[in-house]
Amino acid sequence: MKEQQSVIFESATLGSLRLNNRLAVAPMTRVSALRDGQVGPLMKDYYERFAKGGFGLIITEGLYTDELYSQGYLGQPGIATKQQAHSWLPVIQAVHDQGAKIIAQLMHAGALSQFNRFVDSTAGPSTVRPLGLQMPFYRGDGEYPTPSEMTEKDIADVIDGFVQSAILAKSVGFDGVEIHGANGYLLDQFLTVYTNQRTDQYGGSLDNRLRIYQQIIAAVKKAVGHDFTVGVRFSQKKVNDNEYLWPEGEEGAKKAFSSVAHSGVDFIHTTEPVLDQPAFEGVSEEAHEGKLSLAALAKKYSGIPVIANGGVSDHSLASETIESNQADVIALGKTALANQDWPERVRAQEDLKTFTYEMFNPIADLETANKFFKSTFAE
Ligand SMILES: Cc1cc2nc3c(=O)[nH]c(=O)nc-3n(C[C@H](O)[C@H](O)[C@H](O)COP(=O)(O)O)c2cc1C
Repeated sequence: MKEQQSVIFESATLGSLRLNNRLAVAPMTRVSALRDGQVGPLMKDYYERFAKGGFGLIITEGLYTDELYSQGYLGQPGIATKQQAHSWLPVIQAVHDQGAKIIAQLMHAGALSQFNRFVDSTAGPSTVRPLGLQMPFYRGDGEYPTPSEMTEKDIADVIDGFVQSAILAKSVGFDGVEIHGANGYLLDQFLTVYTNQRTDQYGGSLDNRLRIYQQIIAAVKKAVGHDFTVGVRFSQKKVNDNEYLWPEGEEGAKKAFSSVAHSGVDFIHTTEPVLDQPAFEGVSEEAHEGKLSLAALAKKYSGIPVIANGGVSDHSLASETIESNQADVIALGKTALANQDWPERVRAQEDLKTFTYEMFNPIADLETANKFFKSTFAE
């Protein structure tokens, strides 16, 4: 059969990292690690399948960064210790053997933590109980606890956790790190007006709310050097709030994206429900003159490569988003779980499987998904 031709199969560059194509697997927490945060038995095959299936880049699930407040979930892998970092060696090797690259996502759950084996309480920017309920498919139950307010010492520890994790990620052969600044987790709690009620240098103005991003990026970059790619992920929506829009509109996006680029980050990863939709639809006209997507705003105001994510299933939206210069790389989440060989299937013009939340029922782990695939697609 004739091969699909598309810009998505062309190579791309993120900082010093060269990718075979413009297709990335989005970071997805699968709560399948050992209890001590090391890689669990099903994880190597899982990540290897994406690489075999033609993805140029895999971004890992969010890895917790310290033995303090960062862990979010039971079964979440960490990269806070040498042992945890070393447990990734077989995964990294398997992915590299297929010619793909792998970036570790570094994540601090903050007030959204549902489980932490190091402390019994949660901490965030301010003592504000998170909206919504904990996620049962990550073994959570009921309301989130109210976090304690992080002191300046706690914030210094957070920054140090990201730095040490990035150093460990580099030492075991990851091709880069992505700092998780999205989806309602700790950094996003600082950025979001209603979860940050601080009156010190980390709260109030947008500049202050962005300070922790800038400090983490600058410290990580300084520690890992220029030949190791460092990205940052942004979103407006959160796992526990799917309506939030950045209140400063396009001016806020300009400040966020230009400031992280200024701090030395190599790429920005944006996630929205649908990656190419106008970012501030419904916000006042002045706040959003050009009706650009969040990804396009990131490109416009940062001048660095952008990964865009959200709502892609078939290849046309992915191709169009790159062709219209809104992004350099497209990250696929749920459709990649249903089609771990999405790039190969698309190239060969084969049918795609449809994602269903059934594969996370009752838990969004790999054991449940493997059982689901066996019973649904028994070959
Ligand atoms: C099971 C699951 C786990 C996820 N875990 C993470 C995560 O660890 N870090 C993150 O930044 N986003 C996470 N996400 C969000 C995805 O990266 C992605 O932004 C989202 O699924 C939307 O993209 P899609 O429409 O292609 O699925 C997760 C999504 C799913 C479905």
